[in-house]
Amino acid sequence: MMRMDMNQQFWVCGLLWLWMLFGISMSTRPLLINFGDSNSDTGGVLAGAGLPIGLPHGITFFHRGTGRFGDGRLILDFFCEHLKLSYLSPYLDSLAPNFTSGVNFAVAGAMTLPQFVPFQLDVQVHQFVHFKNRSLELLLSLGGSGNFINQDGFRSSLYMIDIGQNDLLVALYASNLTYAPVAAKVPSFIAEIKLAIKNVYESGGRKFWIHNTGPLGCAPKELALHVHNETDIDRIGCFCVHNDLAKLFNKGLRRMCKELRRALKDAAIVYVDIYTIKYNLFANPSKYGFVEPFKACCGSGGPPNNYNVKATCGQPGYDICNNVTSAIVWDGVHYTEAANRVVAATILSTPSLKLDRYLNKFK
Ligand SMILES: *[C@@H]1O[C@H](CO)[C@@H](O)[C@H](O)[C@H]1NC(C)=O
Ligand SMILES: *[C@@H]1O[C@H](CO)[C@@H](O)[C@H](O)[C@H]1NC(C)=O
Ligand SMILES: *[C@@H]1O[C@H](CO)[C@@H](O)[C@H](O)[C@H]1NC(C)=O
Ligand SMILES: *[C@@H]1O[C@H](CO)[C@@H](O)[C@H](O)[C@H]1NC(C)=O
Ligand SMILES: *[C@@H]1O[C@H](CO)[C@@H](O)[C@H](O)[C@H]1NC(C)=O
Repeated sequence: MMRMDMNQQFWVCGLLWLWMLFGISMSTRPLLINFGDSNSDTGGVLAGAGLPIGLPHGITFFHRGTGRFGDGRLILDFFCEHLKLSYLSPYLDSLAPNFTSGVNFAVAGAMTLPQFVPFQLDVQVHQFVHFKNRSLELLLSLGGSGNFINQDGFRSSLYMIDIGQNDLLVALYASNLTYAPVAAKVPSFIAEIKLAIKNVYESGGRKFWIHNTGPLGCAPKELALHVHNETDIDRIGCFCVHNDLAKLFNKGLRRMCKELRRALKDAAIVYVDIYTIKYNLFANPSKYGFVEPFKACCGSGGPPNNYNVKATCGQPGYDICNNVTSAIVWDGVHYTEAANRVVAATILSTPSLKLDRYLNKFK
């Protein structure tokens, strides 16, 4: 709670500063510009890699494959609804994208490292720099007309980042689930996220919204794939090593955000604790209307995890649970729309994390 008060202070300072600097009087609507992985990919991997992600993904809400991993809306989609924005188009979408609400650079599978590989975080930021440059060029050449984000729009956008889980998982697999080698790599992941924030800042961004990483060790896929005994899991049934590393990563991320707040005085940097919210779903499922927290809704193999690597969700032999709204995890990895809704609602109802306030105050 202390930290959030700090956020608010930075917030107010930043606001005054910007007013003095630009004398802003903007009429524009709020914009979201997002970077990340499958947690917030609204169609990037589909557009960019042509990776078909069809039904049953999307079955609850979109009723077709949109490129989102999950049965419906993501946390980002719920944010857009809350702000009365249309869902974000992927930057990579070449067919009738609509960037009037912002733009989404997230691509499923993305990591912070290695660099210069599509579509890692640094590549997403390079794409953003190009996107901004090109949008401004087009606005100029069209005499200000056209649906492109303008200079004010880029300055007042909220820049969101949700990445890191794939770095941790890849490193965990490479080390046969041993803590130390992965822990040694965590600072390099954090450094990439810091670089991303700095580069967006250099490009004019001033408002940042950083999600920490979730409890990876609670995923049915992880529990199904890796043999474990009671010493490997915590009191609620999640893998300790995954979650200990997620917590280490989050600690570093939080510290980095704090450092950057000090260094970039006119910026607002909000650190959002997704881990605690998601962990609570697994720890107290019935409180939120969920059952069998460690069982994937869509998959095969039955209890306890309903995850079989040879017949995952969408592959021949899979099945879907009777009641998707009572499941936390959709396909063994990604969360259900019902879980995403709870996570988004929890964030939006946390007084210090009022998304609309962060979006509108700098305008
Ligand atoms: C783009 O989205 C905005 C906001 O949702 C909407 O008003 C506009 O009509 C859309 N433009 C196109 C070309 O669909
Ligand atoms: C866009 O990039 C080009 C070259 O890469 C540069 O000459 C131009 O000034 C940039 N335009 C804007 C609006 O930043
Ligand atoms: C991980 O385990 C596999 C199979 O037991 C083994 O072949 C491999 O060498 C191990 N790797 C590491 C980094 O310990
Ligand atoms: C549990 O598994 C670990 C290896 O993963 C092993 O070192 C330990 O002895 C096992 N404990 C029990 C109680 O079987
Ligand atoms: C499905 O689960 C939700 C949440 O637990 C519950 O409210 C609803 O009644 C269930 N629906 C059916 C048909 O069982």
